[in-house]
Amino acid sequence: MPVPEIQILVCVNDRGEESSRASCGQRGGLALYQRLKDLTRELGLRDRVLVTRTGCLRHCSRGATVVVWPAQHWYGGVAPGDAGELLEAALEGRFVERLRMPPGPWE
Ligand code: FES
Repeated sequence: MPVPEIQILVCVNDRGEESSRASCGQRGGLALYQRLKDLTRELGLRDRVLVTRTGCLRHCSRGATVVVWPAQHWYGGVAPGDAGELLEAALEGRFVERLRMPPGPWE
């Protein structure tokens, strides 16, 4: 397998409904991850783009959290329906401004 050009990290950490702390798993993180995986396969991009699910990326209250490497584009409030736009922007080296991680401290 060639070295991927782009890695997309998707937080799927799930603290459960009873937790007082927000988590991406409660905000569609896993469905987002699966949609990105499906899209990369459908578009024949698996050698170029590696989609990886992760634990907490420390922006829990602004999730679902995504980071695109090596560009270091941080996104917040990402939903499964945003996957196509996010993937297209990653391939073009662009930032999706409407999904830019809002400012705030790491949590
Ligand atoms: S639970 Fe996703 S960033 Fe913390």
